[in-house]
Amino acid sequence: MTFVRVMGFSLLILLVYTGFANILPQVQGDPPKEEEIDAGSLDMAGMVSLGQQLFSGKGTCTLCHNKRLRAPDLLALDLAKSFPQRLADPRYTGIAKSKEGAQAIGEYIHESMLDPSKYVVAGFGKKGSGDTISQMPKINLPPISLSPVEINAITAFLQDRAGLTPTIALPSASEAPAPSNDAGEEEEGPSTTAVAALEKFGCSSCHDLEGSEADIGPKLNGISKKLDDAKITEAIIKPNAEIAEGFEADTMPDDFGEQMRVSELNLIIDYLKNLPENP
Ligand code: HEC
Ligand code: HEC
Repeated sequence: MTFVRVMGFSLLILLVYTGFANILPQVQGDPPKEEEIDAGSLDMAGMVSLGQQLFSGKGTCTLCHNKRLRAPDLLALDLAKSFPQRLADPRYTGIAKSKEGAQAIGEYIHESMLDPSKYVVAGFGKKGSGDTISQMPKINLPPISLSPVEINAITAFLQDRAGLTPTIALPSASEAPAPSNDAGEEEEGPSTTAVAALEKFGCSSCHDLEGSEADIGPKLNGISKKLDDAKITEAIIKPNAEIAEGFEADTMPDDFGEQMRVSELNLIIDYLKNLPENP
């Protein structure tokens, strides 16, 4: 019985290969055209799945938008219900006001990435700004630097999650990113400079590094006066072991220890220790 199955399977494999041998020459006859269509044919389903990858990958959205609730938990929130409420709030002055339905929600999501201060969810503004300046970095600028197509992809992903039909424009053939790899690319291979490592892990989205002026976490200038190497390491890989004064626990991601190579950690520690004390 088993033998027959094995035979049958081998025969199948043989047929598949024979089949391929027959097809291959034809494919090879016309390869450039095939590839072009592939790269340029991101349909809406492709955009949604690219957006999903970017949301937790290169876009670093989940650094802040997560269950720890230091920013609205976008994956748990009923966007179709809560976003229209934001748009109806007199504090909202953005472009989505004139739109309706899925279109309005899409515009709001898109705008939230490019110009987060157009509407600041109560309690989530920069300290002392009275909720007029968002703590969220502009996603199209360094260090996150997503392209317009990537920002559209995330918009489509969030609209889709909200149960809405995405309203974004599909990318043209020349704009479309390579189908695979694009979102995960930067995750692969260890960073070889401190600045690259800080970017990879999104440190400057929360700390005032590389001129980001972020203040979700404390300034790190002069950190070596306060903490020795072991304590700096602990602050990075076990952030809740000790909480910096004036800040809350459970804000900084606690899984850098699993994601970082030792070489990246060392680069970062060296860099932080050498930051000028008074920039
Ligand atoms: C450094 C932390 C941080 C990162 C990274 C971040 N955000 Fe935010 N985001 C916030 C905070 C804080 C708010 C709430 C303040 C506000 O309304 O602007 C917010 C608000 C938003 C809102 C409006 C939410 C609402 O309830 O009205 C959207 C949409 C959004 N972010 C999308 C994103 C996307 C998409 C990404 C990734 C590409 C991202 N954010 C990355 C911190 C962050
Ligand atoms: C989502 C925001 C966020 C991100 C991303 C983040 N941090 Fe933090 N970090 C904080 C907050 C908030 C604190 C203060 C609370 C605490 O001590 O855990 C903090 C504390 C620290 C401290 C201790 C500072 C002190 O004065 O004791 C160090 C060092 C630090 N972070 C380094 C880093 C590095 C390096 C990265 C990137 C690998 C990073 N952080 C990414 C929010 C963040």
